[in-house]
Amino acid sequence: MAQTLEQDPILARRSVRSFTDEKLTDVQISALISAFQASPAGMHQFDVLTGITVEKDTNLQLIESATDNACYGAPFLFVLAAKNGSDFAERDVSVAAENIMIEATRLGLGSVYVMGGAVNLAKHADVCTQLGIPAGSSPLVIVPVGHAAQPVATEDRSSRFTLIRK
Ligand SMILES: Cc1cc2nc3c(=O)[nH]c(=O)nc-3n(C[C@H](O)[C@H](O)[C@H](O)COP(=O)(O)O)c2cc1C
Repeated sequence: MAQTLEQDPILARRSVRSFTDEKLTDVQISALISAFQASPAGMHQFDVLTGITVEKDTNLQLIESATDNACYGAPFLFVLAAKNGSDFAERDVSVAAENIMIEATRLGLGSVYVMGGAVNLAKHADVCTQLGIPAGSSPLVIVPVGHAAQPVATEDRSSRFTLIRK
């Protein structure tokens, strides 16, 4: 039987762009890290992707400033960086981002896939170095996570994309 939106975090996930100040717990952060570590990776190349979790206020502010506030003031960021020139870079960060967002939803937290902010962050080499992003890698996606400040939408999404069945 098909799962309902309440039962299935894949169906319940929505982009959240407004967060309360409430910090994540260590248990929540561990669960997000486990979801990241469980991500698929092209050709078993587990050295392409680097994840950086950011929770200290000074570092959050540094990134908001470098990204023109593209991370929506979230209390926790998962920065996903990948090796420059890898064919798998964008795919690897995207599947990892989805894993993190689905786990966030399962935990009752909001999240969003932020590409624009990651592109801006990549222009700030000093901040990337400070965050520990390896030389030769660039941030490609940031996943802000936190408690949604407003109720999350529950509209029907069963026919958003073109689907062809043959
Ligand atoms: C490749 C990609 C890039 C995105 N970049 C951004 C971004 O820079 N900022 C942002 O707020 N949302 C970004 N999003 C989130 C989309 O706007 C969002 O997924 C879309 O509007 C559908 O809404 P939903 O996530 O609630 O299904 C991005 C999503 C994807 C897949």
